[in-house]
Amino acid sequence: MKAVLIDRITNGENISISEVLVPEVKPGWVLVKVKAFGINHSEKLLRLNEIRADYIKKPVIPGIECVGVVENPSDSTLKKGQTVAALMGGMGRSFNGSYAEYALLPAKTVFPIKSTLSWEELGAVPETYFTAWGSLFECLHLNKDDTLLIRGATCALGYAAIQIANALGCRVVATTHKQSKIHLLSEAHEVIIDNGRLTDGVHGVTKALDLVGPRNLKDTLKAVEKGGIVCQTGLLGGVYTLNGFDPIKDIPNGVYLTGFFSNYPTKETISEIFNFIEKHNLNPKYGKAFSFDDIRSAVIAQDNGGVDGKIVVTL
Ligand SMILES: NC(=O)c1ccc[n+]([C@@H]2O[C@H](COP(=O)([O-])OP(=O)(O)OC[C@H]3O[C@@H](n4cnc5c(N)ncnc54)[C@H](OP(=O)(O)O)[C@@H]3O)[C@@H](O)[C@H]2O)c1
Repeated sequence: MKAVLIDRITNGENISISEVLVPEVKPGWVLVKVKAFGINHSEKLLRLNEIRADYIKKPVIPGIECVGVVENPSDSTLKKGQTVAALMGGMGRSFNGSYAEYALLPAKTVFPIKSTLSWEELGAVPETYFTAWGSLFECLHLNKDDTLLIRGATCALGYAAIQIANALGCRVVATTHKQSKIHLLSEAHEVIIDNGRLTDGVHGVTKALDLVGPRNLKDTLKAVEKGGIVCQTGLLGGVYTLNGFDPIKDIPNGVYLTGFFSNYPTKETISEIFNFIEKHNLNPKYGKAFSFDDIRSAVIAQDNGGVDGKIVVTL
């Protein structure tokens, strides 16, 4: 089968397709014929840095998510030919991921789905919509009466979160750090240019999804009303941890801080997401689809930031 393998720091220019054996099925694992997958910031972090870490299996086929059909269900309850989504749980790091024609995946990371969406649209869903969903509902307890602030909204996760919150009936305030990208946030009720300090510029925010991360987190905590919740999910600001964080002074009285990590998807949640998409007639957002033979261009586009929204690859 065709697959992308990496064993060292690899930028987009150095991505190439190799021929490798289709993996052999084993108990507890499911062989999936990959039909589409999304490209994620997490894979960029792997390619450009984390690949050096001891816990990464090398060479590794990257890719933390995919959609496809079951080629061999092994001893799982899945059926050959069934449409599935798979994500996380070590995919593309401790075992081979989705940048390939076939992926051998632990049965617990492979979820049956029912949908009439195209493969391109389906490819944009698993990781991005699962993360948006978990952040908005498990962490922020979002409801229709909320005003949701999305900080760093011009990313795949931001566009998905706007779409879900709108479908729910919330008021959405979205930020971008670039004047030139305001038009991409037209589905939000209000767009704010983020200069690193929102405190005086937003009012009435009851829930905040922070995708910029620790670089601005203290300011986000000050931008919500008393009783509000902030969910720290993204790291777009390039700062990953917060040294010198003083919970007593940095979390305003009566404001709540939570964080979301997408490593633990469940069958129930994946099914709820697809039911919600169908019920609200949503077309999952993606920026551009590339064919697998052109995966180098897809990864270069990620490195250059040349696509607004999720990059999807189809096979
Ligand atoms: N917690 C979790 O489990 C989890 C799961 C998935 C993703 N994430 C994180 O969530 C974030 C979004 O992921 P994604 O896959 O949606 O990303 P993505 O689509 O690859 O987004 C990348 C884009 O974000 C934009 N961006 C917006 N605000 C930015 C800022 N303040 N600084 C730098 N870039 C900014 C950049 O475009 P412009 O600069 O041109 O606007 C860049 O092109 C990432 O940090 C990712 O690691 C976390």
